[in-house]
Amino acid sequence: MDHQTFNTFREIVYVNSGIALNDTKEAMVSARIAKRMRAIGIETHEQYLQFLLQEESGNEITHFLDVISTNVTSFFREPSHFEFLAKNVENWIAKGKDRIRIWCAAASTGEEPYSIAMTLLDAAGGRNVDMRILATDISTSALSRAKKGMYSSSALEGVPELYKRRFFVRQKQNNEIVYTVADVLKNIIVFRRLNLSKPPFPMTGRLDIVFCRNVMIYFDNSVRSRLVNEIHRLLVPSGYLLTGHAEGLTSVKTELRCLEPSIYQKQ
Ligand SMILES: C[S@@+](CC[C@H](N)C(=O)[O-])C[C@H]1O[C@@H](n2cnc3c(N)ncnc32)[C@H](O)[C@@H]1O
Repeated sequence: MDHQTFNTFREIVYVNSGIALNDTKEAMVSARIAKRMRAIGIETHEQYLQFLLQEESGNEITHFLDVISTNVTSFFREPSHFEFLAKNVENWIAKGKDRIRIWCAAASTGEEPYSIAMTLLDAAGGRNVDMRILATDISTSALSRAKKGMYSSSALEGVPELYKRRFFVRQKQNNEIVYTVADVLKNIIVFRRLNLSKPPFPMTGRLDIVFCRNVMIYFDNSVRSRLVNEIHRLLVPSGYLLTGHAEGLTSVKTELRCLEPSIYQKQ
């Protein structure tokens, strides 16, 4: 693909998702778009660009962002955040809090929101607490895999044995073992498509904790700042924002207080 075509794709990605692609991403973008081109029978990147610009329903932009977004994730990724979650939930319940709202802002294929759900249910220990998780992502293909909640045994490597037995149904499918998430987890999660680069967001209830991990690395400072300010607005006083361990907010002007690297609190 020529550089001008790459620049136009890059502009479309930025305007529609806030993902900022630098020159080093050209080969990756080219390969990912080629995957989509094969799926719809288009031969050159230039033809695909024309198709993307002219397709009137707007559906193609959704498919385009599906192939561009990086969905790498895993169960209990960066485990200290789940210890932090469990400790807070136990404290809140001990103090009589009976409503907990968590937003998982870049839920990808579901491993992160399901890890949150397992931690919540375990920490609540059967007590009657109204717990809900909103799990959002820009990628519709990632979200449909998340809603399905079916994982290979290798995907479940980070899941403690006890949780595997309690929260998954083990089945044999085409000679392979697959694990399906139990309804008790699915029932406390709502999956929705949401573009983090376009605040304000339509959430009504105040949020206790926002997991916004390993997605801000794809954004530039202006998108990051708008997002962090919006998260600040949506949190309850003393609520927390958790970012990826490699994502500091040092370049973002925010009223959130840094408690420790990757854990922020609304004052
Ligand atoms: C690398 S994954 C991280 C998944 C998970 N949070 C974790 O830490 O394992 C990044 C996710 O962010 C999503 N994403 C990228 N840009 C987005 C945007 N503008 N709005 C919402 N989600 C976005 C991608 O689709 C992808 O699923």
